[in-house]
Amino acid sequence: MIEEIGNLPGYELLDSGLFSFAGGFAGGGSKGALKGASESKRLDEVKSVSAAPGAVSNSASKKFDSVQDADAEGYRLERFGDFILARPDPAAIWEKELPQSEWEKADAFFARAKNAANFAPEVSASNGAASDATKGKWILKREIPEQWLLHFLTGTPLEISFYARLAPFKHTGIFPEQSANWNFIVEQAKRIESRKQMARQNFAEDSLENSLEDSSKNASENPLKNSAQNSAKNSSENPSKTSFENFKVLSLFGYTGIASALCAKIGWEVTHVDASRPSISWAKENMLASGLPGDSIRWILEDALKFVKREARRGAKYNAFILDPPAFGRGAKGEVWKFNEDLPKLMFALREISAPPEEFEFAIVNAYAVSAPSLLLKNLLDDFARGIGLEVGADQSTISNHNAAFLDTAALANTVEAKKAVIDYGELILRQSSNPKRLLSTGNFGRLYTH
Ligand SMILES: C[S@@+](CC[C@H](N)C(=O)[O-])C[C@H]1O[C@@H](n2cnc3c(N)ncnc32)[C@H](O)[C@@H]1O
Repeated sequence: MIEEIGNLPGYELLDSGLFSFAGGFAGGGSKGALKGASESKRLDEVKSVSAAPGAVSNSASKKFDSVQDADAEGYRLERFGDFILARPDPAAIWEKELPQSEWEKADAFFARAKNAANFAPEVSASNGAASDATKGKWILKREIPEQWLLHFLTGTPLEISFYARLAPFKHTGIFPEQSANWNFIVEQAKRIESRKQMARQNFAEDSLENSLEDSSKNASENPLKNSAQNSAKNSSENPSKTSFENFKVLSLFGYTGIASALCAKIGWEVTHVDASRPSISWAKENMLASGLPGDSIRWILEDALKFVKREARRGAKYNAFILDPPAFGRGAKGEVWKFNEDLPKLMFALREISAPPEEFEFAIVNAYAVSAPSLLLKNLLDDFARGIGLEVGADQSTISNHNAAFLDTAALANTVEAKKAVIDYGELILRQSSNPKRLLSTGNFGRLYTH
């Protein structure tokens, strides 16, 4: 299965492919930081990791002119709102389509370490952290604000906004291909809501039927007594008072919190975990930019696995999980995270804090910058589902049978027996806008949802 980017207005993969620095970015002076109109109050921590375009000086750009170097690495030429960026992508190894003149329109590019050495420190937009210099740095060709706003539109009131920045390690704070997962989250919200409505409707019809039956049966009895009996029965069975209230989502490795903000906007209770203080600060800004109140999300600065184990000891339960683990990472106290070693442990630990199967709704696991096939993610989700007592459709055809059965037996949709899990998995891709519209794989995903 392939998931393409949907409705992230302003984002566009313009071109991708092997790209040479030589001559491509010569010249062009930067005049320093531009305060974007949409820029909000910045937090100090955020500043420490984000680009510092203010450091760019006119004099430094002279050195920029003299760069003579080539890079046979793949690059992506992308539009993020008003700005065009060129940055390395090891998966973009074909020949680029657009002429050099188009690539030269980039407002900034990320020079890999071997090229970055050729650029004077003053023209670097990197934050200056020692480790970043070894990975490369942003080189500005034109003025770029320290941050600028982008939006994710769903055609519903569930719209969110978030800041792009030139961040270390070629990052921008946004993985645009994740919009396929944001769409998935919106779909889950609709699905859960419609099931809730169906349950309410069934409940109302049942109540009406019962009370009609009761009143015709007991027409001679005291009607007040009957209605009191009915309402006591109703309040204990009312589906709106059971599984859908306090819907809890756990977003692990939450980064800049776009998925967390979306879930909070839906009205779910979101716990966002990340080991990096600057990332959490950035995520808080995105939450505010999305018009959410300051206390909409519970923020946890901690190692993901440690937090999950702690939640298990406290008896916490969640209805959905979102995981965006890196290939390699460090917890808040230096705990080492290695994807292949630690993801199975984490998935195992998540069983402990998962809601019972009839109340568990979905899980998303991403694998980016790591050679993890989507089948690996699917298998982990399979184990997870079984571990919490969810029956999983064996393959695609079984899944469609489930759907047909679901439609035919809608009245059973709220019973535990009818609840089954579907796992879909595949590649998250970006489609470039230049011809031929090549598809660029950005990573893999596995997703589970129940019905
Ligand atoms: C950038 S996102 C992941 C996006 C994408 N999957 C990738 O590999 O780059 C990774 C986030 O995980 C956080 N992180 C890394 N190690 C962590 C850990 N042990 N516990 C919690 N968060 C961690 C980082 O701070 C970062 O915000």
